[in-house]
Amino acid sequence: MRNARFAKVGLAILIAQSMSVCAAPSNQKNEHQNHKKILDPYPGKPRLTFKRDGTFKLTVFSDLHFGENPWDDWGPEQDVNSISLMDTVLGDEKPDYVVLNGDLITGENTFRENSTSLIDEIVAPLNRAKVPFSSTHGNHDNQANITHAEEITREQKVSRYSYTRAAPRGVGGNLGPGNYWVPIFRNSKDTAPVLVLWFFDSRGGFSPNPNSAPVPDWVDASVADWIVSETRDMEKAWGPAKSRAAVAFVHIPPHAIQAVQSTVTPEKNPGMNADILGSGSVQDSSAKNMDKPFWDALNSKVKNLHAVISGHDHGNEWCAREPTKDVIFCFDKHSGYGGYDSAGWGHGVRNLLFHTPDPKAGVETWIRLEAGETRARVILDKHYGR
Ligand SMILES: *[C@@H]1O[C@H](CO)[C@@H](O)[C@H](O)[C@H]1NC(C)=O
Ligand SMILES: *[C@@H]1O[C@H](CO)[C@@H](O)[C@H](O)[C@H]1NC(C)=O
Repeated sequence: MRNARFAKVGLAILIAQSMSVCAAPSNQKNEHQNHKKILDPYPGKPRLTFKRDGTFKLTVFSDLHFGENPWDDWGPEQDVNSISLMDTVLGDEKPDYVVLNGDLITGENTFRENSTSLIDEIVAPLNRAKVPFSSTHGNHDNQANITHAEEITREQKVSRYSYTRAAPRGVGGNLGPGNYWVPIFRNSKDTAPVLVLWFFDSRGGFSPNPNSAPVPDWVDASVADWIVSETRDMEKAWGPAKSRAAVAFVHIPPHAIQAVQSTVTPEKNPGMNADILGSGSVQDSSAKNMDKPFWDALNSKVKNLHAVISGHDHGNEWCAREPTKDVIFCFDKHSGYGGYDSAGWGHGVRNLLFHTPDPKAGVETWIRLEAGETRARVILDKHYGR
């Protein structure tokens, strides 16, 4: 239980609700019994809530791949196009929250001295739109001249709208710090959230110079223990897990998704299906299933999990049910002009619309392309994808 100890430190501030009474407890045990704990990982930041009308809209930008070939014209031009896409989409969709689901930067092409300045470019449209957001990081965000940790630190510094955090030390394995959760409340004064957004770090890519070497491309087993301890703290502070909903974001699809692709049909699972999952396409494609501890913990401890959402494979847009865990998985939409591409794939986002704060209600989701075309609109509920 090495990680349980770490989890206590960085996770969150557990403060007794009534400071005056609890400041000098005469009896530890009574203190525990008599006072509900507050679990707040974002002291000092605005609480995130559903809209007054009971809805909540989330937009996912994925695989932005900023910073390709800065010594040529085409690389910087791609980034100008990606920024324009972000401005257009944010203006039209007006989301309540934005997720950047990994591969923000193509780290292979960046320079040690100024890699993270690309983060400033990426968050500029979000700062302009004043929209709260957070990020996961991908295999291209860990390279000789950039790391996930450096991107997180820079993002926190240049955007007050960022809710991205690093996991407590020891959680996530080497070069996989981006494991955290964000609570969404019905009303800002509520004691418990109705929705928890979970973010996981699937690592991958290469370690930084001078001895750059490949990094495992799956969520580390230490994250499984952390999920167990975090969900236990949530139950203590907020009550049963079933009283809230969840969505999980992780850049590289979980290993179990590779087997799901053969069950996908255009009728049952609308959306582009152009990338065959194989080598490098899912976590630990060497078929050893190294993300199993993470996958088991996520699916057993997090209730009302509406979907697990990944990018990484730019040619896929579908949502499908993973049968062994009975959980829905969705691909993002490739948003960036950088990164591999094919004629006709287009660029856009995945939207998620919660019509009600009811944690059991289905969630509407669809792909929106840059110019406004929408497709693959489905409701993620207990009937979807069967
Ligand atoms: C980083 O520095 C290099 C080399 O001086 C330059 O070509 C590149 O445009 C810079 N990139 C950014 C994002 O500032
Ligand atoms: C990393 O940055 C250094 C310093 O700017 C540069 O000389 C080197 O080529 C970069 N490495 C890679 C792999 O891009």
